[in-house]
Amino acid sequence: MGTVTENKQDVNRLELEQKVKDMYRDVAQDPHGEFHFEMGRVLAERLGYSSEDLDRIPAEAIESFAGVGYYFHLADLVNGESVLDLGSGSGTDTFVAAIKVGTNGNVVGVDMTDEQRAKAEQLRDRDGFSNVTYRKGYIEEVPCKDESIDVVISNGVINLSADKNQVFREVARVLKPGGRLAISDIVTESQLPEGITCNATLWAACIGGAMQQDDYRAAIEKAGLAVEHVQDNSEYQFISDDAMGATQKYGVKSISLLAIKRGREAK
Ligand SMILES: C[S@@+](CC[C@H](N)C(=O)[O-])C[C@H]1O[C@@H](n2cnc3c(N)ncnc32)[C@H](O)[C@@H]1O
Repeated sequence: MGTVTENKQDVNRLELEQKVKDMYRDVAQDPHGEFHFEMGRVLAERLGYSSEDLDRIPAEAIESFAGVGYYFHLADLVNGESVLDLGSGSGTDTFVAAIKVGTNGNVVGVDMTDEQRAKAEQLRDRDGFSNVTYRKGYIEEVPCKDESIDVVISNGVINLSADKNQVFREVARVLKPGGRLAISDIVTESQLPEGITCNATLWAACIGGAMQQDDYRAAIEKAGLAVEHVQDNSEYQFISDDAMGATQKYGVKSISLLAIKRGREAK
């Protein structure tokens, strides 16, 4: 069985992948069920999404929105750009990005969970978002060409990966020089103990895989990007007792971040 070590953590990758897929299949198909985390439009608005943007995208995608922050003010998307969304889920951020880059631009969403992609694809076709495509794949092995993307976005996903260094290497590979990484994700103030990091269930709930914030930033820089801005998203809170305990004890929190791929002046 494949296990991976990252920051003294050992989590069983196959077990983790199955738990994540099971959880996000339910997020796609039964968004009003019970989860460790909040979802939906009220959350999106509290995080910073404008009602104007949300009114222009499919309501069913927003019902399954499971992001952890707002980063579009950092991404600063421009008409005609190509965008990649890592862990695109039911599609909320791909649709918001599609509006911002217009029909001259394009958005690719990558997700490993079939039911999430199926839902996003069905909503895209119904509502005519012709500049959005979805690809089955892993964020550790992104199905995109080298230096083909202007902006990589991601919301609440990278914490779920057992190999974050590899995810950031992939981001650096697919971004054009000077391209941007604009994301929201879960990190911690102090290192999580192994009892939490080895627990695939807590990992799938966006807690167990959270990386210490300085290590997270260092992983991005090591991949070849310069971190320009980091902000805490105090509006995001976990809702289960387990999750709230970990939040208080280890400073599990949401951040939004902008980084630029080194190699050419940013736009
Ligand atoms: C917390 S949800 C966020 C979805 C979406 N970004 C949103 O804001 O609603 C995490 C998503 O990432 C996907 N995911 C998690 N780990 C992944 C991986 N290693 N490769 C590809 N997709 C992954 C899951 O299938 C799920 O759809």
